[in-house]
Amino acid sequence: MKPGLRALLLRGIDSACQSLNKHFIFRQPAQNAHDSAINLLRLLERLPFSASCCKLLRHLVFPKTAIDLGGVRLSQRLILAAGLVKGDGFGDEADALSAVTEERRNIIPGWRVLPALLGPVEFGSFTRHPRLGNPGIVIWRDAAARSTQNRVGLRNPGAHAAARFLADRRGQLPTEFGINIAVTPGLDDINQQERDVVESIEFFLDSNVIPNWFTLNLSCPNTEDDPQGHQLEAETRQLCGAIIAALQARSLTVPLWVKISPSLTAEQYRLLVQIFGEVGVRAIVATNTLAQPSPADPSLPAGVGGGILFDETLTAVRHLRAAIQRTQTDIDIIACGGILDGASFRQYLDLGIKAGQYWSALVYRGPFAAAIIENELVQYDHEFEAVHRESLA
Ligand SMILES: Cc1cc2nc3c(=O)[nH]c(=O)nc-3n(C[C@H](O)[C@H](O)[C@H](O)COP(=O)(O)O)c2cc1C
Repeated sequence: MKPGLRALLLRGIDSACQSLNKHFIFRQPAQNAHDSAINLLRLLERLPFSASCCKLLRHLVFPKTAIDLGGVRLSQRLILAAGLVKGDGFGDEADALSAVTEERRNIIPGWRVLPALLGPVEFGSFTRHPRLGNPGIVIWRDAAARSTQNRVGLRNPGAHAAARFLADRRGQLPTEFGINIAVTPGLDDINQQERDVVESIEFFLDSNVIPNWFTLNLSCPNTEDDPQGHQLEAETRQLCGAIIAALQARSLTVPLWVKISPSLTAEQYRLLVQIFGEVGVRAIVATNTLAQPSPADPSLPAGVGGGILFDETLTAVRHLRAAIQRTQTDIDIIACGGILDGASFRQYLDLGIKAGQYWSALVYRGPFAAAIIENELVQYDHEFEAVHRESLA
């Protein structure tokens, strides 16, 4: 499609999404809207031509922004972040496996249609064992600040069942996807943590489910763990080193990315960059959500994403960028925090960042958020250039 026509179409889609949000979606609590979206994905995945229709739509509206990033080539520089295509929660592995093999249930709604519609998607987080996550209402929004907040608590089917589910659909797997593995929350023994993350990855590899990248999520603000717990020097080195060794032992070139927290100190970011460089991590996803008091119970944390996170992530990215430049390390940064429009994305690009991940933008800008943001960026840059030219004249 011609760029001018695409821009017009995306503006139309954007206003339709704003009006749908205002009159329908934002009238429901965030939790209900989220649950309905997951049910819709489940329904779409039962329909025979939904993935092909999504692919067609994608080719119509998404501009090509192909990029080499963190050891992979991607067709787009905006990637759907972990946490949407993560699957159902289960109490134990036998139940999760039985849902896959006997009930033949879709335990990872979105696995097919979202990559078809959006391009690169990060699946997970998956932990070694399944988790039910936290009970009750666990998702909120603050529309005025275009923010989301969640206390999902790593609900997921566990790496074994997730690998089995994807392996059964190997011929239909997307061409661009990552798998995000989280450290098991609440484990004190670092050697057990290491076994857990390596086993999680091996479930996928043994089933011949080979993603374009793995991400190790070292930062889970909504679980039993302090979000900084796994980001200490020795733990980080051991966990990342073990995964990279497991990948190398199979002569696989799948790169490891790592996801970290906002609000660490400049020195902590510097140290993390140094360790990532030494062990061979290829990209840093900065950042996960920011732990804030939960709207339901202020004594508990719940992670904030979107507009409120933006400044925190921008600061984290500045520290990481400075550390990478100082050490001349070959690591990409993937900005993830409050990319909601062309202007916010531009601020990351101006720091020399090549790509971003988004989650809250789906809520505030709709399913074509990434295409809308790219379109706004072009507009934003044109306007900036015009003002700049005028001021020089
Ligand atoms: C409901 C919800 C669930 C999430 N679950 C995960 C998860 O399982 N693993 C993870 O690494 N990040 C998870 N995230 C964090 C997002 O991937 C992302 O880092 C964060 O929302 C910041 O991006 P944003 O500002 O675009 O929302 C979750 C976010 C939300 C809103």
